[in-house]
Amino acid sequence: MEIKNICCIGAGYVGGPTMAIIAQKCPSINVTVVDINEKRIAAWNDEDLSKLPVYEPGLDKVVADARGRNLFFSTEVDKAIDKADMVFISVNTPTKTYGKGKGMAADLKYIELCARQIARVATTDKIVVEKSTLPVRTASAIKSILDNTGNGSNAKFQILSNPEFLAEGTAVTDLLDPDRVLIGGDTSTEEGKEAIQALVSVYANWVPQNQILTTNVWSSELSKLTANAFLAQRVSSINSLSELCEKTEADVDEVARAIGMDSRIGPKFLKSSVGFGGSCFQKDILNLVYIAKSYGLVEVADYWEQVIIMNDHQKRRFAHNIISTLFNTVSGKKIAFLGWAFKKDTNDTRESAAIYVADELLNEQSNISAYDPKVQAEQMYADLDYLNTRSSEENRNGLTAFDNAYDACKDAHAIAVLTEWDEFTTYDWQKIYDGMQKPAFLFDGRDVLDTKKLEEIGFVCYTIGKGM
Ligand code: UDX
Ligand code: ADP
Repeated sequence: MEIKNICCIGAGYVGGPTMAIIAQKCPSINVTVVDINEKRIAAWNDEDLSKLPVYEPGLDKVVADARGRNLFFSTEVDKAIDKADMVFISVNTPTKTYGKGKGMAADLKYIELCARQIARVATTDKIVVEKSTLPVRTASAIKSILDNTGNGSNAKFQILSNPEFLAEGTAVTDLLDPDRVLIGGDTSTEEGKEAIQALVSVYANWVPQNQILTTNVWSSELSKLTANAFLAQRVSSINSLSELCEKTEADVDEVARAIGMDSRIGPKFLKSSVGFGGSCFQKDILNLVYIAKSYGLVEVADYWEQVIIMNDHQKRRFAHNIISTLFNTVSGKKIAFLGWAFKKDTNDTRESAAIYVADELLNEQSNISAYDPKVQAEQMYADLDYLNTRSSEENRNGLTAFDNAYDACKDAHAIAVLTEWDEFTTYDWQKIYDGMQKPAFLFDGRDVLDTKKLEEIGFVCYTIGKGM
């Protein structure tokens, strides 16, 4: 079966970049990305490529290549679904904020709505691909909805799981040169095998066949959660050691280098930080924990939950260190935040450590002045409001956003580095120091700055895993 038309429901951080690359690499396939969010679609269609809703290095060029040729962004969801041979579901699956599984299970309401919508409008057979991260066995729920809520057209559906492994900030290179592409499907029937093969053929346009892995649906769904859990576990492991290093005067980077040179361990994902963020790690582990619990596997659930507990501790520990260093009070003091995104080279702030550090400091009545090269004030307020710790008005009074670091740091008692943006290393730090209250403290939660040089200027520096 040859795929000619692809529709992707959800024009976010996953759907947008993934479809842009598919369109670029498969000029014979028409790719339409749809979303109910009109503003988002308008931004994807903006002539000015700096206005794309997702910031990813290199993405603007890919979109410029394919948009209007075989890549389209639209709000006409029904039309695009019906025209497609293959429909990707790439909508968000946040952690539930209500009811059973609150705070742990994935909220599948957007997925279910998509399945119902596909069932309602489809007049021809379709391969439906789960792209969003989902709990194991979601495919069977989607299948049941598609098979039982049809519109009488006799359209048949095959469900595939094709989890996304791209990391934000490096999405374009990850998509162009993936370690592997994973495709799970119904390996027990001919139709299932054909559907798997159809998607394999799409990726085979640029990914070597031996890197395209096919499995049953459940293995594919579980592998996605597990891959993220293993990665996050490494970060929590090194972060747990960062606290021990600070007590013992060991240097966490030296420890990471020493253990990472063991080829069985490897050097990646051993960078100690103020805590991992992003839309996937926490959500996927909570999901894993919830699934394990729902099967009565208490020890399995507790084991993985510890990764989250360590991460929460790391964020809180960083905030409390600021408070205790600033003579046990930050009330009325200005603390400048450099970075709000959960990592460099993205404008995504979901689960960013900065949000939680800010929350702790606002509880102590400090005034935060924040600057991030890609995050606007409204996003920062939305992130704080989402925590529900205090009123929206209080958040607006407590935090002020600036469009450059120099103004954000003016008159500050301390600077906290929350994201490892490269541009922070290029600043005139003497000028920043001159504008600050003294003693001028700097807390580097990302180990991005040369603190030796900053100390020569006069800063009192703390680096995560290395101490003051
Ligand atoms: C992750 C997975 O890497 C990706 O495969 C999956 O598809 C989605 O989830 P992402 O969340 O975009 O990607 O970013 P990632 O690079 O994994 O970083 C996650 C968080 O961990 C960031 O906050 C990052 O700063 C932090 N991190 C990462 C560390 O603190 N130390 C490290 O050594 C690596
Ligand atoms: P991700 O990081 O998984 O891509 P995002 O939140 O960035 O998550 O993107 C998900 C997108 O899916 C959002 O733009 C949202 O508007 C869109 N979406 C959610 N439900 C639907 C739906 N039923 N139809 C179309 N788009 C949807």
